[in-house]
Amino acid sequence: ATDGGSGGGGGGGGDELITVGFAQTGSESGWRSANTESLKTALSEENGFKLVFNAADNKQEAQIAAVRSFINQGVDAIVIAPITVDGWDDVLKEAKDAGIPVILEDRTVSASDDLYASWVGLDFEKEGELAGQWAVENADGSNLVVLEGTTGSSAALDRATGWSKALEGSTIKTLDSQTGDFTRDGGKKVMEGFLQKYGSDINLLFAHNDDMGLGALDAIEAAGLVPGQDIKIVTIDAVHDGMQALADGKFSFIVECNPLLGEKVADLVKKVLAGESVDKRTIVEDQTFTQDQAKEALPTRPY
Ligand code: AHR
Repeated sequence: ATDGGSGGGGGGGGDELITVGFAQTGSESGWRSANTESLKTALSEENGFKLVFNAADNKQEAQIAAVRSFINQGVDAIVIAPITVDGWDDVLKEAKDAGIPVILEDRTVSASDDLYASWVGLDFEKEGELAGQWAVENADGSNLVVLEGTTGSSAALDRATGWSKALEGSTIKTLDSQTGDFTRDGGKKVMEGFLQKYGSDINLLFAHNDDMGLGALDAIEAAGLVPGQDIKIVTIDAVHDGMQALADGKFSFIVECNPLLGEKVADLVKKVLAGESVDKRTIVEDQTFTQDQAKEALPTRPY
């Protein structure tokens, strides 16, 4: 722990600040901005923390290097939002050997769960399944294209699994499915390609996040098609711009993915460092939004 100086103490229960290294994925989406802000607020000096923040620009090697640098700096705890599922075993072992507890937030890893203290996040498979159920009930028989999230991320893998489960037995026909890396630019470019290839045959889009759906809107409108009418759009996240597109009738349905995980992360860090036992997994509940529900919810959404 570091000396908090005059600004330290507060909720930390003394003058010592808890030094936390937070390895964020990057800044790919509106969801990510809200998640970063939530953690920065919860892991602030007023709450007894000194935060060392790194955003890895969606590059796994850079994120692993950031975690190694936290280990070398001798931080008290490490928080990771893992970009991909695989590839974490070695660096998690290094943190464990150095006696530094790791808390995972948001996405999951395939490494053994005794290599980290706890994980808090969302049920991505359920998110995909809820999106798929809406599609089956409201757009069965459609020709579908999918904008996938970052390849190898638990968010993309699990959402795809849930979506496929929901579509079993339906007559929705998948024309194509490609990654847009969870970004607006990626969503726009891939959707442009889909539209060149399949034109007005497409009448359903599932985007693994709002940002890719928002990028796709530009491509759809530029192609002279009407989003929400010619092509129904189902997305995940429920960030402000996505909810606005839903309220405007351009999106058809959104499954929420709650980014406000900061307080839960801060609580876990404190408990783990105090030697208290914590749950290995904490799942935060999500809700879903129709166009009318979006209109109602928008004025009071915090992000
Ligand atoms: O892991 C959560 C996902 O990551 C969000 O759905 C997406 O917007 C973000 O980039």
